[in-house]
Amino acid sequence: MERLSEATDKNQTRVRSRARLANVTALDAVSIITTKRDGGELSDAQIDWVVDGFTNGTVADEQMAALAMAIVWRGMTRRETARWTAAMIASGSRLDFTDLPRPTVDKHSTGGVGDKITLPLAPLVAACGAAVPQLSGRGLGHTGGTLDKLEAISGWQADVPLPRMREILADPGIGAVVCAAGADLAPADKRLYALRDVTGTVESIPLIASSIMSKKIAEGTAALVLDVKVGAGAFLKTLDGARELATAMVELGTDAGVRTVALLTAMDTPLGRTAGNALEVAESVEVLAGGGPADIIELTVTLAREMVALTGIDLDPADVLADGRAMDQWRAMVRAQGGDPDAPLPTAKHTQVVRAERDGVLTRLDAMGVGLAAWRLGAGRARQGDPVQAGAGIEMHAKPGDSVTAGQPLLTLHTDTPDAFARAEAALDGALAIEESAEKPATPLVLGRVEA
Ligand code: URA
Repeated sequence: MERLSEATDKNQTRVRSRARLANVTALDAVSIITTKRDGGELSDAQIDWVVDGFTNGTVADEQMAALAMAIVWRGMTRRETARWTAAMIASGSRLDFTDLPRPTVDKHSTGGVGDKITLPLAPLVAACGAAVPQLSGRGLGHTGGTLDKLEAISGWQADVPLPRMREILADPGIGAVVCAAGADLAPADKRLYALRDVTGTVESIPLIASSIMSKKIAEGTAALVLDVKVGAGAFLKTLDGARELATAMVELGTDAGVRTVALLTAMDTPLGRTAGNALEVAESVEVLAGGGPADIIELTVTLAREMVALTGIDLDPADVLADGRAMDQWRAMVRAQGGDPDAPLPTAKHTQVVRAERDGVLTRLDAMGVGLAAWRLGAGRARQGDPVQAGAGIEMHAKPGDSVTAGQPLLTLHTDTPDAFARAEAALDGALAIEESAEKPATPLVLGRVEA
């Protein structure tokens, strides 16, 4: 009896101290939430505690969601955002490539329709003499993911163990890796991004900036060029919003010792003439072979010049693209990850053509409409883990400013699942406009530049 009551007492003490702990935890989380809700500034210790607690499960999802919503409304100062980013980096491991014999530089795009720039850019910059370590993601929603595009190449593997990644980066004949980020890269961001996605808390400049930059800084690159998209097909619609995000990210990179520059680039109409995984690989290979659409060439060379300048290498990437060295590097890079650069790319089982209804000038080809249609054709996924169709997507036979005649093909839709055509056409409703005559729009591709 004696023993039993002693054990019961001990149990009760344990239960009471657990309750006290939970209470303290809840109180701390609540005071952090209310501080931000009321417009206060969080201390470094509060930020470290809440990010760590969220990662290890002591801060509940509903508490973090409430804090994220308070941040959406109240914002964070530069110091808070830098500390938040550092706490997310500290939640996992940070790669270190400082021992490589070549300078490291990477590019990150905030995402756009037909944005296949990484594919020609990474080998081009590697051919200039830099090492490009790019940890990338898969597509979700209307913009495609770089890994999904590269997986259209027969045999290509997105998972590269770290020792192999180092070997590839150190090899001057390869020098670029585009691979999946491991689970240990900023795990706090992985959890937080998933939570923000379902709680209406994505739209916050400090949260977006810290989310993107925590992953890029943890990736271990010494220099970074950001391509911040602006316009109908981007998730920031205004130049002011894009500039604010670019500035926040450049500040975070600079504060963390990563040389960072951002370009603001137009995303009202898709980049190039294809949207969809294998279709975009084929277009990228055209660019590496010396052809391809003018906008893809321009953006690839512009971003490559920024990247090469950050490494201090004295070469013009335009020359390296023109003489075929970037193509050689691409072939080596594909092979290094198990891919066959000569294998035919997959094609979709069914196609359908969208024709011009009348003569005139194509004045609108809306990036969001095209992205949504490509997604509905099977090029993208609705939920993480869903499969994508390698051959699905859209070819664009005319771009804004081009003259068209009635009956001329404007788009070819590609899919393995023909019942998707009707849904894709619905997404394109209103996305195209033909007017009797129009000045060829002289919209520049690069709209601004932000540096520290
Ligand atoms: N991409 C990210 O990685 N994080 C965001 O918060 C938004 C876009």
